Amino acid sequence: MRYTYTEHAPFDAKVEAIVVPVSEQEARVIPRTLAALDRTLNGQLTAALAAGDFTGKEHSLLALYPAGVIPAARVLLVGTGKKKDVTPLEWQHVVGAAARALQGMKAKRWALVLPEAYRKTRKPSELGALTAKGIIAATYHFAEYKSDPAARLPVPDFITVGPLSAAQAKAFAVGVAEGTAIGEAMNWMRRFGDMPSSDATPTYLADQARALAKSDKRFRLTVLDRAALEREKFGALLGVARGAATPPVCIVLEWRGNPKQPKEWRALVGKGVTFDSGGISIKPGDKMDEMKFDMSGGASVLGAMRAIGALELKTNIVGIVPATDNLPSGTAYKPGDILTTCRGKTIEVLNTDAEGRIILADGIGYALRYEPKAIVDLATLTGACIVALGTHYAGLFANDESLFRALRTASETSGERVWHLPLGDAYTREVQSDIADIQNLGKRGREGGAITAAAFLQECTEGTPWAHLDIAGTAWATDQQPWRGKGATGYGVHLLVELAKQWAR
Ligand code: BES
Ligand code: MN
Ligand code: ZN
Repeated sequence: MRYTYTEHAPFDAKVEAIVVPVSEQEARVIPRTLAALDRTLNGQLTAALAAGDFTGKEHSLLALYPAGVIPAARVLLVGTGKKKDVTPLEWQHVVGAAARALQGMKAKRWALVLPEAYRKTRKPSELGALTAKGIIAATYHFAEYKSDPAARLPVPDFITVGPLSAAQAKAFAVGVAEGTAIGEAMNWMRRFGDMPSSDATPTYLADQARALAKSDKRFRLTVLDRAALEREKFGALLGVARGAATPPVCIVLEWRGNPKQPKEWRALVGKGVTFDSGGISIKPGDKMDEMKFDMSGGASVLGAMRAIGALELKTNIVGIVPATDNLPSGTAYKPGDILTTCRGKTIEVLNTDAEGRIILADGIGYALRYEPKAIVDLATLTGACIVALGTHYAGLFANDESLFRALRTASETSGERVWHLPLGDAYTREVQSDIADIQNLGKRGREGGAITAAAFLQECTEGTPWAHLDIAGTAWATDQQPWRGKGATGYGVHLLVELAKQWAR
């Protein structure tokens, strides 16, 4: 997306549309700025409001047609809801809803009028970042498997925003650059979740990471292939991969943004199950197709690494993505098998569908080689997390108070919601195995399933500060919203970038 700022009044801009956010309050009592617009449009606005066609309800839209009185072909009102101010998440939804509507109208070049209330209360840089990210994420569109090229919708390549003071405009532009990096990283990695698993294989993900690593010398990529995984004794990942025909990999992507502290590392680990059939403990057929998104945690880590590099954050971060299909076959791993991780921990497999925690045991185990100050893992780990929190919040677990707080702060900035769930001895006991070190199913079966999964991971962290995000509900959208389409959501990229920004401070 290209961005420019015009200093003159936004209604003079030569654009295909002008977007005007309007709250319910403003729809009742028209403020000064809107009154001027109304006069220009010969009372169209007051007429529309009097008719009750637009009330300012969040994400509601109304297009007005200036018919030549100003250069723009349309003025698009977008409702911001009841409050005077909006949260970061709400603002992204507002600009996202407008952006998607304009994309549907095939309008590429449009101007946004920033509400005065936010200009006063929000930092312009933050507003710029959320605006750019909101627009880019909202207009993501996965159409590359459609044979008709007309199915591909335009990406906005130009927005203007006004009016701002010179200093505000400068800060806003800095924010736009940051939000653009984040939004583009999100859309880059969302594609991996939307692609069929037969194309988005572990090797494909590794190739994408390789292309990314080539973009900057401060990236260093190691792809552990099957031979390397055997050499490094990744018994857990190799165990899950036994049923798959496509070879597993472990992607290790370093960002060396702080060469002054070459030994100071933090690790991001993402579940990269490219397709989860459940394996021998096979899943029911209904909606199994969606399990192509089971690599979303890994994709979020790659997306975050891309944005962290683009923003040149001054910190050292290693992204680790163990990746494999989980499929049944004559060679597949079986319930009752015992696997050994690269740290020598033994895992009794009680259900081959609880495969995410198994491959993460190796991923986290590999992260420990960096003696990291913190490990954060992301995984579409449990259906139980969706039962607990639905699709609006990710489950957040942490064994470390300051890492927990850092993620909460990151979440408030990015608008990606997290909810704290517990850990503790009571749960840890449930994943102790009678014959191995740990077992991949809680002793009480599905009870507290998201928590026992986290407790299993905690057993693999060896006391390192660690946090786990269960993104099973947040990584995939089964329904369309005004601000985004169906499919992969990109959850986690912005959150991890905000976390990394704190690490870089
Ligand atoms: N990838 C699934 C979790 C999942 C389910 C994510 C639905 C998104 C939507 C995970 O590998 C899984 O199958 N978990 C099992 C664990 C159970 C066997 C203990 C689950 O949640 O049913
Ligand atoms: Mn599974
Ligand atoms: Zn899975």
